Amino acid sequence: MDHWITIDSSSIPGSDIELTLSQRADDFAIRISGVPGDLMNSRMHHSEEELAKFACSRLSIVENAQVLVGGLGMGFTLAAVLKTVGVSARVVVAELVPAVVEWNHGLLGQCAGRPVEDKRTRVHLGDVADLLKQQPGKFDAILLDVDNGPEAMTHSDNEWLYSLAGLKSMYKKLRPEGIVAIWSARANPIFTSRLKKTGFNVQERTVRARPGKGSRHTIFVAQKKLSI
Ligand SMILES: C[S@@+](CC[C@H](N)C(=O)[O-])C[C@H]1O[C@@H](n2cnc3c(N)ncnc32)[C@H](O)[C@@H]1O
Repeated sequence: MDHWITIDSSSIPGSDIELTLSQRADDFAIRISGVPGDLMNSRMHHSEEELAKFACSRLSIVENAQVLVGGLGMGFTLAAVLKTVGVSARVVVAELVPAVVEWNHGLLGQCAGRPVEDKRTRVHLGDVADLLKQQPGKFDAILLDVDNGPEAMTHSDNEWLYSLAGLKSMYKKLRPEGIVAIWSARANPIFTSRLKKTGFNVQERTVRARPGKGSRHTIFVAQKKLSI
């Protein structure tokens, strides 16, 4: 197979935009209709895995660590979280598009080793914002990779996630010293300032799309201050 074939497509809830899953030989791509490029491609997942390491490395020795992952995609970030945290951890992955979860239970699941089937994983079918706004409970880490960076792309409502209101909501949902990590295709000084204004200690990490090569992506690592 030397050309891309569309395997399935599904509308994004609350919009008339479609998400498609395409395959070329062993490679997969998830694309948004009308938007050039890939939302996610199975050949490049290093920065998606680094997102998990920056957010969760300190959690390997924490009992009952609670992690929220926004956006399942191809499951690389979720798989990297599961590799990092301990056996007693609980990892909630929120996915807006039900078909993405179905794809991960099927052929697409082989890309990242079927992390949705790990017994520590709980899938929330719906908007990650719902968990940040409504549900009780606190997280040790919140990871977001739902767009191409801190601007809504998949879904216009995602703008809230990157607003001061959204960031304050994440701050409240974190335990002391908890971390929010956000994947971005590029740096964004205005967003960095907004994270600082929320009260986070912020680091911007630059990571390549593949180990040692490829595009440079930015991961915003924002840590809640220790309450005294
Ligand atoms: C770039 S992909 C995630 C890639 C993922 N990090 C990986 O390792 O494969 C973005 C995913 O976020 C989902 N998504 C977009 N907005 C969302 C939201 N508000 N809540 C939950 N999932 C969302 C999309 O449907 C898509 O599956």
